[in-house]
Amino acid sequence: MQSIAESMESIDESVKKLLSGHGKDIPLFKVFMPESVMEPLRKVLLSGYVGEGPRVAEFERQLAPWFNNDNILALNNGTASLQLALRLANVGHGDEVISTAMTCTATNEPIMAMGAKIVWADINPWTGNIDPEDVARKITPKTKAIMCVHWGGYPCDLDELNAIAAEHGIKLIEDACHAFSSTYHGKPIGSHSDFACFSFQAIKQMTTVDGGALVCKSNADCERGRLLRWYGIDRTSKRKDLRCEADIVEYGYKFHMNDMTAVIGLEQLKYVAENIEKHQAHAARYNEAFKNLKAVRPLRYEDERTSVYWLYTVRVKNRQKFMEHMKEASVTVSQVHARNDSHRMFKDFMTDLPGVDEFTSEQVSIPVGWWVTEEDLAHVINAVEEYDRYWCTRIQETKKPPRKLEKKTACQPN
Ligand SMILES: Cc1ncc(COP(=O)(O)O)c(C=O)c1O
Repeated sequence: MQSIAESMESIDESVKKLLSGHGKDIPLFKVFMPESVMEPLRKVLLSGYVGEGPRVAEFERQLAPWFNNDNILALNNGTASLQLALRLANVGHGDEVISTAMTCTATNEPIMAMGAKIVWADINPWTGNIDPEDVARKITPKTKAIMCVHWGGYPCDLDELNAIAAEHGIKLIEDACHAFSSTYHGKPIGSHSDFACFSFQAIKQMTTVDGGALVCKSNADCERGRLLRWYGIDRTSKRKDLRCEADIVEYGYKFHMNDMTAVIGLEQLKYVAENIEKHQAHAARYNEAFKNLKAVRPLRYEDERTSVYWLYTVRVKNRQKFMEHMKEASVTVSQVHARNDSHRMFKDFMTDLPGVDEFTSEQVSIPVGWWVTEEDLAHVINAVEEYDRYWCTRIQETKKPPRKLEKKTACQPN
């Protein structure tokens, strides 16, 4: 039998293998974890208080300026924040939620968990974001909420979506799990709509290992959410018995953050702005380098919105070939999310989505994050340009008129 030390060693080995290209390739994602987290983490771990406590409250306080909003609930993951938002929007059995198929399944599974029906709206094939015009077409008397996702960190058309929500008296829920600190019309995501949901899982702009935040427009929603994140229990109420809660009015969940993860978040907040700046600077270099390419085209972003570029997505001709080419060049690339309507669990909601068809057949993301060095950047640009040249040459060749063959030769079998 393996000793504990041996089995820990084999776990370390398997983790190394899990890392992309065994550490040789330029990764698409990387976990940012500063050494400085160790001391505060150690303190909490040995403090005798590791559950939800003062560090969670402090984390929420320090998050407020990032969202320009202090109605914040720190939670144990982003998926929980989406489910809690749906609950606060009173989405239940038989209701409809208009959503996008171009996302992580974590956007849409909570809709099913609430017993509601998903109604897919199409997307803009040059941003990956939900199309407000199609959303408006899909509203019915059963619609309770609209769910939008800021693909890669680029904000959706929030004015248009909020106007539709207001007109029909329904809620707009932003899945902002890619978009921590992106801005729309000069204000951060988290300050525009009824609900914005964030994720702090391992590979996001900042991580608490796992974690999330729900940011609410209304203080009343936030206070109801505070109860629902912990079984509906009012943790501030006076109790006759230390452990026995008073009356619980409505059922809740175990969705709260704990002090261990919050203290990691507090440390991460010291670095996140600098890391995001690097994502944005790298994206600007790609935008410039790729602006005239024919086979690899950046997405089309408007001014007055900033993306934090959790992803740098391009649309490429012959994606399979491109992915093979980049792999050969030791650059990790991926589609990141498969269109959700391709999953059998969503089969009841099928509909035509031409924008999704167009986007999903060409989209792929390349490394853009804080870990990408100057040398890596030049290497990625070079590999992309090489692919573009290859593709353009092939197109030229296929356009050439076929060589004139003498009749005799042409009629002969090969
Ligand atoms: C768009 C989107 N929504 C939701 C989630 C779920 O977040 P979490 O993993 O923190 O539950 C993710 C996670 O990666 C995501 O990318």
